[in-house]
This record gives sequence, C-alpha cells and structure tokens, in this order.
Amino acid sequence: MHSRRIAPILAFCALFGIAQPLTAAEFSPTVGQPGKDVIWVPTPDALVTRMLEMAKATPQDYLVDLGSGDGRTVIAAAKRGIKALGVEYNADMVALSLRNAQAAGVGDRAKFIQGDIFATDFSDATVVTMYLLSSLNLKLRPTLLNMKPGTRLVSHAFTMGDWTPDETASIEGYTAYLWIVPAKVQGSWQISAPTNSFDIILDQTYQKLAGKVSGSGLSMGKEEPTIQGNVVAFTVLDSSGRAQRFRGTVSGDAMEGTVRVQDKTDAKWTARRMK
Ligand SMILES: C[S@@+](CC[C@H](N)C(=O)[O-])C[C@H]1O[C@@H](n2cnc3c(N)ncnc32)[C@H](O)[C@@H]1O
Repeated sequence: MHSRRIAPILAFCALFGIAQPLTAAEFSPTVGQPGKDVIWVPTPDALVTRMLEMAKATPQDYLVDLGSGDGRTVIAAAKRGIKALGVEYNADMVALSLRNAQAAGVGDRAKFIQGDIFATDFSDATVVTMYLLSSLNLKLRPTLLNMKPGTRLVSHAFTMGDWTPDETASIEGYTAYLWIVPAKVQGSWQISAPTNSFDIILDQTYQKLAGKVSGSGLSMGKEEPTIQGNVVAFTVLDSSGRAQRFRGTVSGDAMEGTVRVQDKTDAKWTARRMK
C-alpha cells in the first residue's frame, strides 16, 4: 500500500487510541534484558492479580510500581479503576508501557515516567508494588518505612530483610509478600481513660510491639500489643484481673480511641507520647 494511503490510517488510529501494528522501528522487549539495577522479567498476570488483591487496592488508592517493565501491574490496577504510576529507567520500556496502556484503554489512569526508583519521590503512593531484588528492597526499606502508616507494599519474590511480611501468597509457583507500613509508636505514652490514667512503654520492631505498663495495680494483658497501619490495640489488666481492651488510632505523638472493660460499653481514651 502506498505510504500516502497508510499515513491517514495511522493518524486515525492514533487519534482514537486504536492499537497500531508493530512497525520495524518499534521496540520489542526480551525477557532477561539488562536494566539499570535489575534485569527485566515480567510478573505473571495471575500473580499481578493476586498482588493487587493482597494490597486490597481500590479506586481510592494511588499505586506506584517501582521498575514497571512493560507496564502490566500499572495497567492491571488502572483496569480496576485505580490511578497508577510506573517508574521505569528504560525509556523504550516506558514507550512500550504507554502504548500498552493506550491499547488497553486506560491511558487516562495509567501513567509512566522514565526515572530511577532511587531518585523518584513516590511518597504519595498508598500501594507500592515491586519485583526487584532483596538487596534493592533493603536499599528502599528506610524510604518505605517512612511512608504514610497503612501504605501497602507488595513484592514479587523478594523479601525485606528482617522486616517479616504481614502476608505471603503463592500462585502457580510464584510468591508475593505484603507489608503494611506501621505507625511509629516506639516510646512512653501517657494514657488518659475515664477509669484511670497510666503510662505504657511500647517497644517496636517494625509491626511487632512489646508493652510494659506502669500504674498502680496494672499489668499488660497476655497478648502483645499490636500496630497495623495506624491502628493500635493493647489490653491492660487491673488488680482484680479485669481486662481493659484499648483500641485506637495513632497520629504522630497522639493516640485516641475507645476502651472496653469486660465487654461492657466503650468509653473514649486519649494518649500522648512523653518521649
Ligand atoms: C524484574 S523487572 C519487573 C517489571 C514489572 N514490575 C513486573 O513485575 O512485571 C524490573 C524492572 O525494573 C527496571 N529497573 C531496574 N533498575 C531500575 C531503576 N534503578 N529505576 C527504575 N527502573 C529500574 C528494569 O528495567 C525492569 O524493567
């Protein structure tokens, strides 16, 4: 066909977002091709789906895929109505991802930038997905731990050192891990509840807590305190062994919530961090 006849067809396809056939000039990726810090190997679609489910990702979320390859995780999220961004160092992969997103009809929600994951601010993400390496996860870990409490992190295949995952899932022989960024609650807290005031000392290792209570006749319940995102829970026993179950939310150096004594009505409590 004469090029003068092809040009208007391509223009029509571009205008209406219709997928165009691969031209000789278009880049086609190869599994295992080198990347800046890690090669490209795509996550199987079944695991992408599972990773989005583990994160409980909804259209209220903003997902960032670190090292987004051909864009499949970002596009899968966008198909679920989630705004998503892929950060990818390889400019050809970015161009390919943009074409794939257009072809999938999600170009409005699926965005891609060419950039280095270690030099890109993704702090506004509420879900972060990655398929990198353990060493890269460890390098990212301080940044990830500083994200907003409750941010979900999902990694294909690679763990996060001594930060144990909150959930592990496998599908078709592939494994993914989920972490929920915990609020920082380390320290001494002064609790004000309707029935009593007392101090607790929380010792935090990632999402694991140990607690001590100081106040007349009080002791910690036998289950350890918990922190999931910004939701804290702990049980204090009074001198008669009656359980007071505290549950609340953490915001910086303050906590507030409700306490239930012996499964009776809930009363409000507050706390502030002393040091
Ligand atoms: C194992 S692939 C995963 C691709 C995609 N996330 C998936 O799960 O299908 C890793 C990707 O990270 C990209 N990459 C490597 N180092 C990077 C860096 N420093 N910044 C951004 N992307 C990087 C590679 O080009 C590759 O596409």
